[in-house]
Amino acid sequence: MCGIIGYCGKEDAVEKLLYGLKALEYRGYDSAGIAVFDGDEVISVKSEGRIGNTEALCKEKGLQGFCGIGHTRWATHGEVSVRNAHPHTKGRTTIVHNGIAENYNELNRKLKERYDLISDTDTEIVCALIDSIYSEIEDPIEALEIAKERINGSYAIAVIFSDIVDTVYGICQDSPLIVSEDENGMYLASDITAIDSTDKLYYRVTNEVAVLCRDKLQFYRKGEKVIPESFNADRNMRKCEKDGFSHFMLKEIHEEPDVIKRTLDRYVIDGIIRFPFEDILTSFRSIRIIACGTALHAGMTGAYLIEKMAGIPCRYEVASEFRYNAPEDMSGELAVIISQSGETADSLAALRIAKELSAVALGIVNVENSSVARESDIVLYTSAGAEIAVASTKAYTAQLAIIYLLAFKLAYKKRRLSLNEQRDLCDCLYREIPDAIREVIEIKEQIEKTAKKYAVCENAFYIGRGMDHLLCEEASLKLKEISYIHSEAYAAGELKHGTISLITEKTPVIALLTDPFVFSKTVSNIREVKARGAEVLVIGMSKAEECEYDALISLPETDPLFAPFTAAVAFQLFAYYVALHRGCDIDKPRNLAKSVTVE
Ligand code: M6R
Repeated sequence: MCGIIGYCGKEDAVEKLLYGLKALEYRGYDSAGIAVFDGDEVISVKSEGRIGNTEALCKEKGLQGFCGIGHTRWATHGEVSVRNAHPHTKGRTTIVHNGIAENYNELNRKLKERYDLISDTDTEIVCALIDSIYSEIEDPIEALEIAKERINGSYAIAVIFSDIVDTVYGICQDSPLIVSEDENGMYLASDITAIDSTDKLYYRVTNEVAVLCRDKLQFYRKGEKVIPESFNADRNMRKCEKDGFSHFMLKEIHEEPDVIKRTLDRYVIDGIIRFPFEDILTSFRSIRIIACGTALHAGMTGAYLIEKMAGIPCRYEVASEFRYNAPEDMSGELAVIISQSGETADSLAALRIAKELSAVALGIVNVENSSVARESDIVLYTSAGAEIAVASTKAYTAQLAIIYLLAFKLAYKKRRLSLNEQRDLCDCLYREIPDAIREVIEIKEQIEKTAKKYAVCENAFYIGRGMDHLLCEEASLKLKEISYIHSEAYAAGELKHGTISLITEKTPVIALLTDPFVFSKTVSNIREVKARGAEVLVIGMSKAEECEYDALISLPETDPLFAPFTAAVAFQLFAYYVALHRGCDIDKPRNLAKSVTVE
């Protein structure tokens, strides 16, 4: 999704801004641009497509300066075009903007007489609003404070005024905006990865106006100078090299064994799970897990495990639907919000609603200091490190690891699991599963051979029962998001109630077969699709060899309770190689964004 960068200092601003934009690329974007004070004139350069296009234009124009703002745009209002790309300029004001001005129609009605609006964006209207207020009061800080009052929705905005040379302003509302300084200058960005400063303190802008000059950094609230909340950068989150892998996705799959260990290291001490909020866990009558996409799929497995192991009623909810499904009162409920980025707008909105309804909110988050982490009552961190590929892989298995710990802990609290049993399960997850995952990674050439055969198909089904069915949801999402093959996940027994009419010899069926409890039933469903000509790929442990299949990805023998970890890595690699053989842009699939900051 959109990203913001701003710089003001001693160094080449064009270079700093382009560095920031490249670091923001992983979030997904379709156009980019920068505006720089070239002497005392503001020059904007923007282009469709990759940052390289903007970079080439900057070179062509010989753009240089010490202060400016930049943006990667993921289209929300209006098509992908240079006209709609940021920065936008109206009068003396130039801005870049993340988020949505929900009242842009109303603002437009008031401003269209006065300004010639040429784009389809809400950003241009916000720019006109700021410029109109600035023209009236001639005080930039006050103008931005007034503008803040008039813009509805969540947003972050970086602003330059053409008559205030070498100064960048930043404001935001419920959308991240981070500021930092080092010996080379002042930085502002929507995402910490975009800031090319040395390891310094970071400030989080919330209700302040940030003012970045070449030699000083200041923050104002209601006209008074203030110092906002600060934090130390997590260097892990800033490391984003491919380290010799052809794609971030492949690199991140290879990191999974270590990520699981790291995640457990934080909360398991001598085999015993230690959460920072032990007592609270006994006080809930029910649990609701709320998330989007891959995080939701981890939550589905969580709901299944928690009910089965701890006997506590637990359901999952699609975050974007939650406001329509929310009960009247959630007191006595634990709302678990799972999010890699911690900035997903739908999940954040659900978290706020759940809190308003008196639930206790537990965030399961990868990014420390993210909005979900800060707004949750209690937090558990997945220690996956920075995940750059749009397709989530290591964050998913890290989320599963935390969810398993939560299920074990709740089962222990409900006296359904003894301390020794808890220790044995944690031990297995810590000692055996990372190695089992490594075994799956070792057979990646074989997975690639299988995947190559499937790369020509246009439709596919994933089937499974019980936990396997929940895994199918994630396996299917992985395939469609990076390979663009249409795929559906089905409870194996449900196919015959209509959907089986879609099965032909051109529709491969991928069956997940890790759960011994439902083995024979799924095998019957495999027979049904084979009888209708489908080519069947089975992913399962040695028992799977007993069934009829066309191809098999054999998983190492583990306790079936932990099979989701090995199966996940197998289907992630499968999707990766299918996409590779289809020539897809794996790390940046079309139309997608890493962090979805609009509802
Ligand atoms: O950052 P979050 O975990 O909140 O993101 C949720 C989804 O947008 C995300 O998992 C998405 O589905 C991934 N691209 C899937 O690979």
